[in-house]
Amino acid sequence: MENKIVYLNGDYLPLPEAKVSVLDRGFLFGDGIYEVIPSYSGHLFHLDDHLQRLENSLAGIRLSNPHSRLEWQAILEPLLDANFDQYIYLQITRGTASKRDHAFPENVPVTVFAMCSNIVPFAGLNVGVKAISMDDTRWQLCNIKAITLLGNILHRQAAVDKGCAEALLVKDGYLVEGAASNVFAVFDGVLITPPKTNEILPGITRDVILDLARKNNIAFSEDKILFADIQSASELWVTSSTREIVPIVELDGVMIGDGKPGPVWHTMHTILQAYKQSLL
Ligand SMILES: Cc1ncc(COP(=O)(O)O)c(C=O)c1O
Repeated sequence: MENKIVYLNGDYLPLPEAKVSVLDRGFLFGDGIYEVIPSYSGHLFHLDDHLQRLENSLAGIRLSNPHSRLEWQAILEPLLDANFDQYIYLQITRGTASKRDHAFPENVPVTVFAMCSNIVPFAGLNVGVKAISMDDTRWQLCNIKAITLLGNILHRQAAVDKGCAEALLVKDGYLVEGAASNVFAVFDGVLITPPKTNEILPGITRDVILDLARKNNIAFSEDKILFADIQSASELWVTSSTREIVPIVELDGVMIGDGKPGPVWHTMHTILQAYKQSLL
């Protein structure tokens, strides 16, 4: 096991020494939420937006935020190494109760865990990846970044089993998002992504891309994407903090566009890299 230093409930410890009780509600029920925050050369990317989403996720499961934004920053920064592009994994659970009971325990402190890992550049970024589509079998609160990820895991594994990088999820005939990503499509030169509802996680990368599209005069709209229309899209992408913007060049064995990352992807990828640099 890696011997890196992680944060657990106020202490910085070597990873093998960081232990939680088997009665922790994260372990027993998946009763908690998390965040994934990228860091470039030691600078946390859009930290405020990630901490706002953390706040929303906590409110969504009726937990109060144990720390102010400045406290969170002070907790996370010592985990970073400025020599690498990294990401923080931060998890908060409803803590350890004295017995297993679905109802919330009273006066139990939350469990806070954070660790940092290096971002491994995603192979396939420049050539694109394959994906499958699946009916979305997750729950109705996908806007909460819950650690209860069984639905997402089963979808992603189904994609991996077919040699694909992602599963695109379809609900009531509409494309909603990926198993661990948001989705964008280009129709007639216009970038489209589904609106923020309880059916998707409000991705920070998604919002950054829309903001960059606005500032760079790239036509876009937040609209529902009918799955039946996908074959007429010239480009299809998935986005997330650790993989950034990944072009999908084949869906369910059928080529998207000309089977290569498209021009809008090239433009947006370049703009995003320049934007990241500008923040350092
Ligand atoms: C289900 C789901 N949607 C979207 C995203 C993208 O969110 P972000 O851009 O904040 O990483 C993720 C990230 O892991 C995810 O798990």
